[in-house]
Amino acid sequence: MADIVLEPGPLVIASHNDGKVREIRELLEPYGFEIRTAAELGLIDPEETGSTFEENAVLKAETACLGSGLPALADDSGLAVDALGGDPGIYSARWAEAADGSRDFAMAMRNVEEKMQGKGAAEINRGAQFVCVLALARPGVETVTFAGIVGGTMVWPPRGSQGFGYDPAFLPDGFERTFGEMDADEKHGWTPGDDQAPPLSHRARAFAVFAAACLSGLTRNPAKA
Ligand code: IMP
Repeated sequence: MADIVLEPGPLVIASHNDGKVREIRELLEPYGFEIRTAAELGLIDPEETGSTFEENAVLKAETACLGSGLPALADDSGLAVDALGGDPGIYSARWAEAADGSRDFAMAMRNVEEKMQGKGAAEINRGAQFVCVLALARPGVETVTFAGIVGGTMVWPPRGSQGFGYDPAFLPDGFERTFGEMDADEKHGWTPGDDQAPPLSHRARAFAVFAAACLSGLTRNPAKA
């Protein structure tokens, strides 16, 4: 991959998912970007027609870049449950679609649990991963992607009301609190006063790869670290 130098300036977060926008904003903000969101720019939310996280992330980033003329960072992510062969995976948001079109993650988490129970195994394999692929699209330049993954265990019943989506049902390996019980800094893996702390969430891990490739000339604001 050719060296990528992303200067602080306008950068579009190409997502219409409030939870993701909040987390990507938190991850980007310490680097001094002027953050715009797809919603505030009136950009369309394209149909996710790809068959991989990567294809969908690229689709979203390029749509926002084309619509705004600005660099755009998109995220495609989801929960891959071992006992379900990696489902809901790229369909994680769709599994939460209620009949009236709203998103119901209590229903989606129950559905995942029932499908795991329905496998009828003597001992349920509760292993799962959260996966995130970030795509950076810039006008006239090839789009690049960065992946992050975090392993964990599905818990039932869900615990905690922080984060978003499937967070309350996911216990990351090595922790006793679900993502739903963690505040944002803990989910990112940020330790106050330690700028080098390893990232934790799939999104923070993908972001760390992105930052190493594209933001190496910039330092994270120690006030936030
Ligand atoms: P998409 O990337 O827009 O297809 O949506 C990804 C979906 O995966 C989200 O709507 C959430 O349901 C789920 N998801 C992705 N990242 C997270 C996370 O950090 N916590 C909880 N759920 C997530």
